[in-house]
Amino acid sequence: MPSLNARPAEQLEEWLIEITEALAKHNQDHPDQPAAPFAINQIVHKSNDRLEHDMALCVKYKVPIIITSLGAREDVNAAAHSYGGVVLHDIINNKFAKKAIEKGADGLIAVAAGAGGHAGVKSPFALIQEIREWFDGPIALSGSIATGDAVLAAQAMGADFAYIGSAFIATDEARAADNYKQAVVDASSDDIVYSNLFTGVHGNYLAPSIRNAGLDPDHLPESDPSKMNFGGDAKKAWKDIWGCGQGISAVKAVVPAAELVARLKREYQAAKQRLAI
Ligand SMILES: Cc1cc2nc3c(=O)[nH]c(=O)nc-3n(C[C@H](O)[C@H](O)[C@H](O)COP(=O)(O)O)c2cc1C
Repeated sequence: MPSLNARPAEQLEEWLIEITEALAKHNQDHPDQPAAPFAINQIVHKSNDRLEHDMALCVKYKVPIIITSLGAREDVNAAAHSYGGVVLHDIINNKFAKKAIEKGADGLIAVAAGAGGHAGVKSPFALIQEIREWFDGPIALSGSIATGDAVLAAQAMGADFAYIGSAFIATDEARAADNYKQAVVDASSDDIVYSNLFTGVHGNYLAPSIRNAGLDPDHLPESDPSKMNFGGDAKKAWKDIWGCGQGISAVKAVVPAAELVARLKREYQAAKQRLAI
């Protein structure tokens, strides 16, 4: 969960209490099936004036995984390590991957072409292959993964984990607006537009939401990167512009998250059987 989703900043502590208490209760009730570790995403850009506040809360609640993006900082990594947390850093190319590990990240999230939100343009094959030449630590691959078959493919090409975002927008539990969820169900890769207009960093968005805002998705202007603002006071000028990756053709309906996970599991097992592995 991105810490900046909690607005105002004080809401983050309420959510961390809710998450940690719910998971502790689950673990107590189901010792044979403990919950997976959860993660909080931190935008480490200089315009994020909440970073220190949000990281202090992550330290207080011992968030098991910190995901960092748009900047690699040794002090953020050290804060996570102080209580045994693990840092995974979002990267879009091999150069940023090397920098992230040099600065102390434990693992990488390779954000390949077609990912929802801020995304790169590299083929996942190229990206994973280049990183695996020098890095044998944990890698999660992201970008258009929305089927169990694709999860297996990510592992086959050298990633340890598949990292899925957009498909989970169309679940009952997601806090997205209903028309956003339905737009994910209705869209295919043809409806995804890559632009830096909305945040100053290139990302993928649903074309219908851009049209609804009165813009032509085929002729978007370039952004002014000096206007990047990920701070607590960031105005949500583009709040109805919806981030989404290219993999969403696999999403046929809004379903409970558990149903989506069960589908991924079924498909993953079927793909393994098909390949006889
Ligand atoms: C609407 C939206 C917002 C996102 N916000 C963040 C974020 O704040 N921090 C982050 O590290 N990744 C963010 N992501 C990226 C996801 O963590 C992930 O890399 C991506 O969704 C994976 O690709 P997929 O959407 O094609 O599955 C966002 C993605 C979407 C769709």
